[in-house]
Amino acid sequence: PAHVARHIDDVVILGGGLTGLFCALKLAPRPVTILTASPIGEGASSSWAQGGVAAAVSEQDSAQSHARDTIAVGGGICAEKIVRLMTEEAGERVRDLLGYGVPFDQDLEGRLQLSREAAHSQNRIVRVRGDMAGRAIMDALVAAVRKTPSIRVIEGYLGESLICQGKHVTGILARRRGGRERLAFPARAVVLASGGIGHLYAVTTNPSEANGHGLAMAAKAGAILADPEFVQFHPTALNVGRDPAPLASEALRGEGATLVNSAGERFMETIDPLKELAPRDVVARAVFAEVTSGRGAFLDCRQAVGASFPERFPTVHAACIAAGIDPVKKPIPIAPAEHYHMGGILTDANGRTSLDNLWAAGEVASTGAHGANRLASNSLLETVVFAARVAEDIQGLMPTPRTAHWPEIDHTIQDASERNEVERDAIGILRDTMATKVGVVRDGKGLTEALAVMNALERRCERLSILNMITAAKIVAAAALRRTESRGGHYRSDFPEADPAQQHRTYVTLKDVETV
Ligand code: SIN
Repeated sequence: PAHVARHIDDVVILGGGLTGLFCALKLAPRPVTILTASPIGEGASSSWAQGGVAAAVSEQDSAQSHARDTIAVGGGICAEKIVRLMTEEAGERVRDLLGYGVPFDQDLEGRLQLSREAAHSQNRIVRVRGDMAGRAIMDALVAAVRKTPSIRVIEGYLGESLICQGKHVTGILARRRGGRERLAFPARAVVLASGGIGHLYAVTTNPSEANGHGLAMAAKAGAILADPEFVQFHPTALNVGRDPAPLASEALRGEGATLVNSAGERFMETIDPLKELAPRDVVARAVFAEVTSGRGAFLDCRQAVGASFPERFPTVHAACIAAGIDPVKKPIPIAPAEHYHMGGILTDANGRTSLDNLWAAGEVASTGAHGANRLASNSLLETVVFAARVAEDIQGLMPTPRTAHWPEIDHTIQDASERNEVERDAIGILRDTMATKVGVVRDGKGLTEALAVMNALERRCERLSILNMITAAKIVAAAALRRTESRGGHYRSDFPEADPAQQHRTYVTLKDVETV
């Protein structure tokens, strides 16, 4: 049973990461409710982003060049119009972030300092104190949101399902974290900004909140999804047995750090002319091969970064030291980890989904900007570009906001250790299955087995939040089984080549998944 908040919100946004906060700020002074499981600024992948925001802002760069690089790594299936919009609007959105107080690194003349990352033909990553971009952006936006009276933040509620009348979305049903109470949040406009799917994998760089719930909620409501099989694995997560796995930013390789195995061989030299700066999917597979062969893989930063490591990469340095590794003196043990979902809820250039009154942006959405493989630091960019477009679209459709009469809601966060043993066990099996059978290297047999495991888990679990995780996992596995070729982040050892006949995006609904 759900209590219905008598007040109908103008706009409800599910998710307190960069997408949700940026969209809410862009909508101000229109009243907006942000629903989030964890306090804003925590539990969001955005806060952990190390690279920064890719933007062609230097004199020698251009949006066209940025678009070319984005399309070149996208496996031939990027939505080119979307890429053009994204790269052209990058400078404006960086200016917005500066306006919200984000302290991007600048030189004495006020010019933005730009880093290099893999497969970018220019230095074009706008960054903060080396590897602190995500944290600094989120700190600035959290402060801006807290100062904006038109934004109501409800922390401690988990989105469970969409409320619909046919294809028309009328609100979000959420459950209090750690409890059973459900609240319905009816709204004139609903925005999903709930992030990715990393927590479905045993090894991931994402926080546990990135568990595919938004994807599952939209799928269950009948939304069309796009490209769910395309999952990006970051090649250089710290292989130190931590969950989530700390990230060693690609910017380290941008500075010249090398990849070696335990025999000291620079294995990327024989794999790609771009070596360590080859596209991320290529490097991830090479690292995966070294790790699974037992040779191990290491990121050697001693020459390229050396003694300046703590100052230039403070986040990575702290993670290494916490794991007992001094990266100034020793190579860092690494392994690939689930990092980003290119697929998601199909959206258009304004973030509209296939359901009426439902928008999606950020990692939960699939605009087509990334195709089969995302270019480094294009994720925060895509987020801000399309969160702004969603806000503009909502304003255009509903120019007159309603006054908010928000009822009192107790949303103090309760004890979050809510899963019982059966559920913990089920999630462990799900995450291992995704990592071993729906991971960096897949094949038809493993994917079929994975779906059978997921169907069995589905029968054992009752809690909606866990069933949503299983649904999201099934969506990825089923789409991966249907794509009988290798392209970008999707690599099938039984179909190792790209098939020109499959050079297109995939559009699926939950019905297609259930009939695989
Ligand atoms: C990194 O710093 O390596 C991550 C950048 C990204 O995922 O875009």
